[in-house]
Amino acid sequence: MIVSQSVTVRVPAKINLQLAVGPLRPDGYHHLVTVFHAISLYDEVTVAVADGEGDDSVTVTGEGAAEVPADRDNLALRAVRALRDAIAGREAAPAVRVAIAKKIPVAGGMAGGSADAAAAIVACDALWGTGLSPAELSEVAAQVGSDVAFALLGGTAVGRGRGEQLTPALVAPASYHWVLAFASGHLSTPLVYKTLDTQREGRMVQSPELSHELMGALRAGDPLRLGRALSNDLQAPALALFPALRKTLAAGREAGALGALVSGSGPTCLFLARDAEHATELAVQLSGAGVCRTVARAAGPVPGATVVSAEG
Ligand code: C5P
Repeated sequence: MIVSQSVTVRVPAKINLQLAVGPLRPDGYHHLVTVFHAISLYDEVTVAVADGEGDDSVTVTGEGAAEVPADRDNLALRAVRALRDAIAGREAAPAVRVAIAKKIPVAGGMAGGSADAAAAIVACDALWGTGLSPAELSEVAAQVGSDVAFALLGGTAVGRGRGEQLTPALVAPASYHWVLAFASGHLSTPLVYKTLDTQREGRMVQSPELSHELMGALRAGDPLRLGRALSNDLQAPALALFPALRKTLAAGREAGALGALVSGSGPTCLFLARDAEHATELAVQLSGAGVCRTVARAAGPVPGATVVSAEG
């Protein structure tokens, strides 16, 4: 049943407070234990019923728009097709026009493409009135990419498997202040994983384990402990591929960040501030140091993909 003509969804970027990468699996993915955290840096995705017959289409505007494929390979369009397949024959699922307004950096290690895919799922679910449960929507999301299910959920959550098996984390009701340093340049996620495999060649790779320090810090709502407990196994390969990030991390530490880390597969770097005022100071110092393209401030955790308006 078509319930709206147009739906707009706001979807957050993610950072990984822990990213522990285990052995390579036979399917080409790695076993992960990760702690996802959604932050207040958002893309906005509007999905409208296309007039007349035709295929789904997508347009992209904003931060890094030129680098996002605007064809069938676009993750949001893949998500639309995955949702249509999931309800095949049960509901009408007409072609759609997807408009993505980006603020999350492209190929920046913040799951921007996955966020857009999650937003498209939430928007089409509302548009088509699919009647799927949150668990069923999460399954559709997991087919599209490892980080898509988390963008639906938001908050702070533990991810296992290839990242798609999620459990909300038990955390104190605290809000943390983050500063992000966007790099000039990109890193390919598969290349960063491959570089990690090369760095580890000949060594036994242990099964990844959830960090007790990190979970303790989150339960206590203590930013000082949180800053010390941040960890990312993809940081070493990201730094090997993008050595300039060392300077970015060092500049943040010198400016008093409680923690400094490459975000996901990079090259975005993230810094934890003591409070909102300190976040502004950190952002000013990082921009002045000339160690990144631009900086942004964000708070977390925030909810996952959310409908902000519906018309028709
Ligand atoms: O699932 P997604 O398309 O986001 O993953 C992008 C790439 O990252 C994969 O093709 C794979 O090379 C790598 N990856 C991995 N192990 C994971 C998640 C992603 O090796 N658990």
